Amino acid sequence: MQHLVMGALGLGAVPHHVLLSVVQDAFNVINVDRVTFQNDMQFHWSICFTCSGAKETEAQFTAGLTTKLQRGTSVRISMAVDMALFTNDTTRETFVSRTFDLVNKYQFTGIDVLPNDKLPPLDTGDTDFSHPRTAVVLNFIAAFREIKAHFGPNFTLTFTTPPSTFQSLSSPSVYQSSGALLPVLHALRDDIVVICQGLSTDEGNTVVDSNGVSVSSFTADYWVALARPLLQGFNVAGNPFPAFAPEQVCLGWRTPGLSAKGPTATEREAFDSHLQIFQDGITCIMQDTACNTISPSGEPFPNLLGVAVFFINDDAFLGGSFARVFPPLLDNAQASTSPPDTSINQTGSPSTSTTLSPSSVVMGNSHGLQGAVIAAIIIPVVALVILAVLLIIVLRRRRPSPDTEAPRSDIVATSSVAHGSESNQYMLSAPQPYSAPVTIAPRAVSKGAVPRTFGAHDEQSHPTESEEHSSDFEPAPPLYYAGR
Ligand SMILES: *[C@@H]1O[C@H](CO)[C@@H](O)[C@H](O)[C@H]1NC(C)=O
Ligand SMILES: *[C@@H]1O[C@H](CO)[C@@H](O)[C@H](O)[C@H]1NC(C)=O
Ligand SMILES: *[C@@H]1O[C@H](CO)[C@@H](O)[C@H](O)[C@H]1NC(C)=O
Repeated sequence: MQHLVMGALGLGAVPHHVLLSVVQDAFNVINVDRVTFQNDMQFHWSICFTCSGAKETEAQFTAGLTTKLQRGTSVRISMAVDMALFTNDTTRETFVSRTFDLVNKYQFTGIDVLPNDKLPPLDTGDTDFSHPRTAVVLNFIAAFREIKAHFGPNFTLTFTTPPSTFQSLSSPSVYQSSGALLPVLHALRDDIVVICQGLSTDEGNTVVDSNGVSVSSFTADYWVALARPLLQGFNVAGNPFPAFAPEQVCLGWRTPGLSAKGPTATEREAFDSHLQIFQDGITCIMQDTACNTISPSGEPFPNLLGVAVFFINDDAFLGGSFARVFPPLLDNAQASTSPPDTSINQTGSPSTSTTLSPSSVVMGNSHGLQGAVIAAIIIPVVALVILAVLLIIVLRRRRPSPDTEAPRSDIVATSSVAHGSESNQYMLSAPQPYSAPVTIAPRAVSKGAVPRTFGAHDEQSHPTESEEHSSDFEPAPPLYYAGR
């Protein structure tokens, strides 16, 4: 499978503006950040193309877009959308038709939805995420279904969600007050990629692990805890929310950011150390190495779709490490979940060699190494079968009576093969349930940073986080660069 390196390009990110045309080709997907759908039922750009001192004209932007599309990059438009506006058909219809216009005008290859951090509450009694009844939720779902149907299978829909989206929702009251995104993600699950964005502008951000333990962002544990609900499923107000396929999950790293005068030495240091933690987290999730105290517990996810950075601008101004590190990391992580030495001892039975990552076989992919691994499994199996057949023939010729070793050796050969595939089957269908230790000792890597604990509620009302998703139109500079 092809992994994706994605990035949000902060348009209007003065002074750290990056022209669309010069974004590194390492980014398979660029989410142009952003337009905001507002009360006036119009999209508003975060960039002012015509203001004095504008860093990019609309003509430059569209030319850059064309260049990128020609080079095979997927360029999507990020839309900040407030679900609370979708109370009636008029809003839905207007949103859909404005989206058609916007996408057609620029030829975007998809939409990245940035739901408002503050979600509308669900109606009383609307407790089952698989059968939502609240009007705004139903209208929201219908809008994106219509958009997806209109543009066809190659048009991609991503949802960039804050960490709180998948936490603390086993409580019916939390689900009722802030879970409105879950029925949407569930209804659209066949058509979307979820980009779970970790970290907020607050360095002390934490996530709550499935055991209710707060995990700080200063170790790889954070990313594993963040990803686990998406990859393993979780409880929503008493109902099991099914896992997403790893191929539709992407983890998004929000960098510590840049001040207007940056990058400073401190910012570089924070960037590098956070990037290292993110790398470790992704490596842990994908191949079960580099983990801290939490691991994917016997079932790594080599087919995790990929990673995203918020924002490409930060990475570009700090030397582009993200773009350099992740393309090989994602591919190697997948390749090395298979053992590097795949030679099988002549005397060994085929079943001794099946430490191969099962999902990489099932998914199939272009890695030469995996081809070699598959060959290394299949060839001995086939050889054994041939040997067995030969043996049967020889034995039958020697002793024509059926009550002899001939059938027995037949059985031995068959069961040996069957054992080999059974053991594959086991690994495919019966991953070990997670049972990790939960004593987590945060290892602070940022100077003077004090890990803090937020529940899902606290996080949503956290001022910097809600500013990020604010629907107020701010031409420039964008809010996510403010206050750093
Ligand atoms: C539909 O919803 C929008 C946004 O909430 C509101 O401004 C508008 O008045 C509503 N229209 C009707 C016909 O109810
Ligand atoms: C989708 O993309 C594939 C690969 O580029 C192409 O072969 C196919 O025709 C496209 N489908 C549509 C409906 O555009
Ligand atoms: C081959 O056999 C040797 C000796 O028994 C053992 O040390 C080695 O790990 C085996 N290699 C494989 C790939 O099974």
